Amino acid sequence: MSKPKNDTLLRALLRQPTEYTPVWLMRQAGRYLPEYNQTRARAGSFLDLCRNPDLATEVTLQPLARFSLDAAILFSDILTVPDAMGLGLYFAEGEGPRFERPLRHEWEVRGLTPPDPDVHLRYVLDAVAQIRKALANEVPLIGFSGSPFTLACYMVEGGGSDDFRELKTMLYRRPELLHHILDVNARAVTAYLNAQIEAGAQAVMIFDTWGGTLSSAAYREFSLRYLEQVIAGLKREHGGSRVPSIVFTKGGGLWLEAIAGIGCDAVGLDWTIDIGAARKCVGEKVALQGNLDPAVLFSTPDVIRAETAKILAAYGQGAGHVFNLGHGISQFTPPDHALALVDAVHVLSKPYH
Ligand code: CP3
Repeated sequence: MSKPKNDTLLRALLRQPTEYTPVWLMRQAGRYLPEYNQTRARAGSFLDLCRNPDLATEVTLQPLARFSLDAAILFSDILTVPDAMGLGLYFAEGEGPRFERPLRHEWEVRGLTPPDPDVHLRYVLDAVAQIRKALANEVPLIGFSGSPFTLACYMVEGGGSDDFRELKTMLYRRPELLHHILDVNARAVTAYLNAQIEAGAQAVMIFDTWGGTLSSAAYREFSLRYLEQVIAGLKREHGGSRVPSIVFTKGGGLWLEAIAGIGCDAVGLDWTIDIGAARKCVGEKVALQGNLDPAVLFSTPDVIRAETAKILAAYGQGAGHVFNLGHGISQFTPPDHALALVDAVHVLSKPYH
């Protein structure tokens, strides 16, 4: 398999020199794009969209047709993995994701096993292969998974939560049960990401969206340790190319040095940390990805350019920066503002390389 024509993202993730700072946006295919909403309506629902490789390919490519992004990201969801474990994922209108069978009792936890991605997540692997073909080697394709801990949050709560009461009750009352879930999840995530790499993903990202809700000690014991287990089990190379890995813990700014030490190639940053300070903290260990506040995109193209310039200046001269938002793009973002951001990153970053 040959290198993408534009391999700027892959080089930046490995801290190799580039001509400019590459950029992509978390949730770049989504409801802020009218063409996404049309395809989703044709599919019937979000989950039908994820399960149809033709339509998943179509929406993956939509943001690339509008903006000169330096990567595509697989269109899917982190919760396909617990769904494949039999928990019964559904989306109640306006309520976000929910599970029919959350893990509340010991017998449910003990019965949990990692799914075989080739069987139970075939539709995702088919989408990866089809997207790779459709990309025709223009830009790299990023595969992804939720972190063992973030998946466990949804599996135990049965959906989103403000306070993670069920999860934290289990963490402090029955830590051995949570460890069992996390070990199954870590094995599931490792196999799933490796299957995505085999199917054509050229970089992989692990979303630890809720790790930042933990205490410092609990983060290390219940999230970081399992992230490290996953990274240790990942294929480092496929078809003669390195497959870089990115770890993103939202709210993980205080633990950056520890995250940079688990063997990943890059660390994702939310917008609460200064990226210059983050760079000093991690040194030469990893590349950094981030970290514009997604709310900046509600402002004006002039403000967007100014805020982009601040982040580029804070990172400073040299390789190892992948520009992104600090979290997913909001559904209320005007698409023209995303365009202004992508173009600003490309123009304003050249002097730093
Ligand atoms: O970045 C991309 O473009 C790839 C696609 C992607 C989606 N979800 C599509 C999606 C990715 C990488 C995810 C990851 C994901 N999913 C995370 C981790 C990243 C993060 O945002 O912190 C989490 C926690 C989930 C779980 C999930 N899926 C939630 C909480 C929701 C509802 C969110 C909302 O905005 O209402 C989803 C649904 C979802 N996943 C949508 C999309 C485009 C919206 C679905 C729709 O069309 O209605």
